[in-house]
Amino acid sequence: MSTNPTSEQTLSIIGCGNMGTAILNGLLKAQSQAQPTPPSTSTSTSTTPALPKSYIATTRSATSYTKLTNLCTPYLTPSDPDSPSVTILQGPHANLTAIQKATTILLCIDPADIPTFFADATLRGALSGKFLISIAAGWTRSALFNLVRDVHDLQIIRTLPNMAALVGQSITAIEVPPPLTPGGNEADASEGRPNPTDAHITLTQTIFSAVGQTQLIPPAQMTAFTAVGGSTPAFVAVFADALIEGAVAMGFPRGDAQTTVLQALRGATALMQEGGLHPALLRDQGTSPGGCTMGGLMVLEERGLRGTVARGMREAVSVAGLMGRQAEGAEGFVNGTR
Ligand SMILES: NC(=O)c1ccc[n+]([C@@H]2O[C@H](COP(=O)([O-])OP(=O)(O)OC[C@H]3O[C@@H](n4cnc5c(N)ncnc54)[C@H](OP(=O)(O)O)[C@@H]3O)[C@@H](O)[C@H]2O)c1
Repeated sequence: MSTNPTSEQTLSIIGCGNMGTAILNGLLKAQSQAQPTPPSTSTSTSTTPALPKSYIATTRSATSYTKLTNLCTPYLTPSDPDSPSVTILQGPHANLTAIQKATTILLCIDPADIPTFFADATLRGALSGKFLISIAAGWTRSALFNLVRDVHDLQIIRTLPNMAALVGQSITAIEVPPPLTPGGNEADASEGRPNPTDAHITLTQTIFSAVGQTQLIPPAQMTAFTAVGGSTPAFVAVFADALIEGAVAMGFPRGDAQTTVLQALRGATALMQEGGLHPALLRDQGTSPGGCTMGGLMVLEERGLRGTVARGMREAVSVAGLMGRQAEGAEGFVNGTR
């Protein structure tokens, strides 16, 4: 049986680029608060574990090592014994050491680097008895287990955070096993490996609650989530950019346009999220008969905004599915014309 993670442990983060660094940063910030942040979903059956106090972070290049070292300076040799500590490693044995010294490993390297990473037999050997949390887009548990066929006693959980982890506002999917069917057993389709336990899921929730909200998602919805949770920030960025451009075209100073549009977007999100206002009601309440907002909306509808956006989302989900097939060995360009 795979290791059951506890709170008293080291967490190793392999590949501290944008996401790895954002997650590490969120974890360190959460530790500096008096109360650890609880998981944001209520489906867990276990008690909330504390966040790990000790972190090992690895990078591939010396440049990323220096950048991360500068960012983590207060945590490299903390004077306060209650403060979390960070060790940063880079070089040929960095990942091996990071895996050997930790119970839980957060894999944050690029999806294209995954096969090379697991090709190292010594490193694979060190994974025995560990708990691996992957954030790699497109890589299913089954595809990951396929790369570590010779490693027994390894547990893997698949997750998908998004870029807003950088500001503690990610929505992170945590893949949970499908409900058991009559006559089914505890192993899912992931190379016959046992499903993650409640303790694995709860620890994963605790880690990602440090950088936003978490959502437990069945495997069948992970592909859609890759686009719905992962692509939405970029879609909204393009929409925000267009609003700013339109304002500038009408003589609004660029800086003021940006401040105004971003705060308006934040306010609209708060009305829908905290205020519980359905998007359709917000639209209704924001449009006076014969008014300027209605006039603008008429043009957006005429140009098929909703159909276009929904089609973009569907395309992104389709491409995420193709990326998953690439991770399993399929060749080709996922964004080729169809
Ligand atoms: N960005 C997103 O919005 C997003 C959302 C959901 C999931 N993800 C997933 O998050 C992962 C990372 O994405 P990212 O945007 O953070 O990419 P990134 O900025 O390129 O970060 C990847 C990091 O991995 C490091 N790395 C690569 N191979 C390594 C190795 N063998 N050992 C140690 N470090 C290694 C690289 O180090 P160097 O800089 O030193 O080369 C790089 O800093 C990907 O799997 C992606 O699918 C990203």
